[in-house]
Amino acid sequence: MILVTGGAGFIGSNFVMQWCAQSDEPVVNLDALTYAGNLSNLKSLSGNLRHHFVHGNVCDGPLLHQLLADHQPRAIVHFAAESHVDRSITSPDAFIETNVVGTFRLLEAARNYWNSLLGPQKDAFRLLHVSTDEVYGTLDPTDPAFTEATPYRPNSPYSASKAASDHLVRSYYHTYGMPVLTTNCSNNYGPFHFPEKLIPLMIVNALAGKLLPVYGNGQQIRDWLYVEDHCAGICRVLEAGACGETYNIGGWNEKANIDIVRTVCHLLDEMAPASERKVINQSTGKVVKSYDELITHVADRPGHDLRYAIDAGKIERELGWKPVETFESGIRKTVAWYLSNQEWVTGVMDGSYRDWVAKQYEIGKK
Ligand code: NAD
Ligand code: TYD
Repeated sequence: MILVTGGAGFIGSNFVMQWCAQSDEPVVNLDALTYAGNLSNLKSLSGNLRHHFVHGNVCDGPLLHQLLADHQPRAIVHFAAESHVDRSITSPDAFIETNVVGTFRLLEAARNYWNSLLGPQKDAFRLLHVSTDEVYGTLDPTDPAFTEATPYRPNSPYSASKAASDHLVRSYYHTYGMPVLTTNCSNNYGPFHFPEKLIPLMIVNALAGKLLPVYGNGQQIRDWLYVEDHCAGICRVLEAGACGETYNIGGWNEKANIDIVRTVCHLLDEMAPASERKVINQSTGKVVKSYDELITHVADRPGHDLRYAIDAGKIERELGWKPVETFESGIRKTVAWYLSNQEWVTGVMDGSYRDWVAKQYEIGKK
């Protein structure tokens, strides 16, 4: 079996569902169920005996030791993290705790467990650490894309905490010979994406007639990858990646934020016309004609990275992975998913979510 951490979050839950659909191997899913973790993401697995959920914290060393001893996993896939840059700017503590201390605790428990294994079991064990392209810092418009050799230059408390965790993982390979793998992926999008991040926030706000807050001029560029392609990349690295190596995963889809927001608006105009739904612009009280009239530019994010771009050549060449979705097919599926899963959206937007949005966009006002 495998142990997954953070499997009730956006990418982790997509990974666990994909895993259970494609493999008979059981999964133990350890998640603290922070505001970003939702058991409703895993509803399709209820009654599936190959999925075993454990409510717990990756910072809890004794719990990790116990889980590893009890379940004897052949691999660990580590997603658990605080993941939202804006939250890392207002409250960095949890990022240091989960992303740095949590990863350290997991490495220690895994080292202890791995040392207890013998022969083929020991040789086969892997720990895969899921990280981000944000550790590489920012690019100018004409710079070449990030490769695995690009120096780390993190610019936010989030990316700095992920960089620290990547360094710890690396050190466990070089110092202890632990069979670790690291993936650095670009921005994901798709089903179960918590509506504090750009794409789901824009969909949810637009349907409610709320303003669509674009930071600064909206010309910042991200590379976007459909979440299921990321999960398939992680599986491939787990299966065939070389220990101690890092693999960049990306979609070859660089887009400016403002273009992403306009694309979402145009898809909503087509799939859920505001006039038919009688969407009222919450700021003017008038019926919305086209969702893009809700776009508003707000104060920029402090230290906002201008551009991320991933060179995914290594994983393509060495492991034969390639994304299946284009941005056009993936974003259409994503918008359609949000339209058919309004109940999920309402369910995850609890009181703490509303407090965060009120605080963040009060700060973010021009
Ligand atoms: P998410 O915020 O949606 O989910 C994180 C999950 O981790 C939640 O279920 C949460 O409850 C859990 N968690 C948080 N703290 C925990 C703790 N102390 N102990 C146990 N569980 C805890 O994040 P995501 O977008 O799914 O990202 C997953 C991983 O992928 C993260 O490591 C992130 O850095 C990385 N990543 C994300 C993206 C992206 O675009 N979202 C891109 C590249 C890499
Ligand atoms: P986000 O989804 O938070 O991911 P990340 O910061 O990890 O890239 O943001 C994606 C881009 O969208 C980023 O450049 C910030 C911008 N953004 C906005 O313009 N408005 C928003 O309300 C949010 C949440 C993000």
